[in-house]
Amino acid sequence: MKKIRVELNQRAYSVFIGRGILSSLGERLRQLNIGSDCYIITNAWLKKKYSKVLDAPLRSSGFTLRYMIIPDSEKSKSFESACNIFEDLAVVDKKKNIFILAFGGGVIGDLSAFIASIYRRGIPYIQIPTTLLAQVDSSIGGKAAVDMSAAKNLVGAVYQPKAVFSDNGLLKTLSSRQIRAGLAEIIKYGVIKEPGLFDFLEKNYNSVLMLNEAKLEYTISRCVKIKADIVKKDELDQKGIRAILNFGHTIGHAIETAGGYFRYNHGEAVALGMLVAIDISRLIGLANEKAARRIDCLIQQTGLPHRIRGIGIDAIVKAHYHDKKFKGASNRFVLFKDIGKVMLVENVPLSVIKKAIKNRF
Ligand SMILES: NC(=O)c1ccc[n+]([C@@H]2O[C@H](COP(=O)([O-])OP(=O)(O)OC[C@H]3O[C@@H](n4cnc5c(N)ncnc54)[C@H](O)[C@@H]3O)[C@@H](O)[C@H]2O)c1
Ligand SMILES: [Zn+2]
Repeated sequence: MKKIRVELNQRAYSVFIGRGILSSLGERLRQLNIGSDCYIITNAWLKKKYSKVLDAPLRSSGFTLRYMIIPDSEKSKSFESACNIFEDLAVVDKKKNIFILAFGGGVIGDLSAFIASIYRRGIPYIQIPTTLLAQVDSSIGGKAAVDMSAAKNLVGAVYQPKAVFSDNGLLKTLSSRQIRAGLAEIIKYGVIKEPGLFDFLEKNYNSVLMLNEAKLEYTISRCVKIKADIVKKDELDQKGIRAILNFGHTIGHAIETAGGYFRYNHGEAVALGMLVAIDISRLIGLANEKAARRIDCLIQQTGLPHRIRGIGIDAIVKAHYHDKKFKGASNRFVLFKDIGKVMLVENVPLSVIKKAIKNRF
């Protein structure tokens, strides 16, 4: 088992990574002293498949359990779902000793964090990410949000969990499409921060896709460490440091939104968004061409999408205006210089953005 600290002074917490770590979940939660009533937010399939993994360690440590089942869709990351859950919490939270346990992928994690951040002005929550994408990215860093029809993650907060438990044994039931989606965010970490991780992925992407335990544990730990270090320096995303995690996300989110949140999943949209960001970087003369080709090639080899299908360019351009990551500029992109080197660029001309998107049709 690996333990990585997200160092945030009084909000610091540990990310536990390893196969089988959930057997000690009850004891570890007891040590955190976050309450006695565990409110588990998950979906029906995950509950049926995995409740036995959670129930025994939690009950034997004296926790009461209540499951809240939400529909399995990005559409669950909504105000409506949050309100339904607030109503239920208000009824069941008699002893005011409740904490939330998010058991699922990024959708459940983001929604649970959002609820925990505002219910009774904030209650403790725990992340148990069950997708590769959530284990390497969304469960760490405290970004809590719900989507609006105009744009993703438009309403939310930064609210840190009390701990994260990443058991890669849970990934065995993921579809290969979902594993690839996680790999897209992993490639992102290599590109923005760690050439060594990128080299490793070029040689080992297939082992990661096949869920090789040692390679997976190494990969997840590297990504968590990179994200923990970035979040530590810029928790509230105000210094332009955390912003580099959005590489591929400006156009990626626009593709996800324009596709109605179902044509492309988050990781697939991010893969396409990274390719568009690289093309913008090429067009403005920023990109190291050899390195850019290595990324193109890795994304194609992993089977992630590299051409945009079934969405019009105008819908993508319209959706990208709702990106909330810039103020006082017409847009802000994380652009690519070399592997391990990205930079923030504001006010990219619309003609360049459109050309780069067109390149990917
Ligand atoms: N908060 C952040 O910092 C952050 C970062 C990246 C992404 N996100 C958000 O995360 C979301 C995407 O997360 P995701 O890719 O995990 O999607 P998801 O939560 O929709 O999960 C993908 C699918 O996998 C299924 N699933 C989950 N665990 C499984 C398991 N162990 N076995 C089999 N099936 C399983 C789910 O039921 C779902 O159908 C997006 O909403 C995105 O905006 C947030
Ligand atoms: Zn992402």
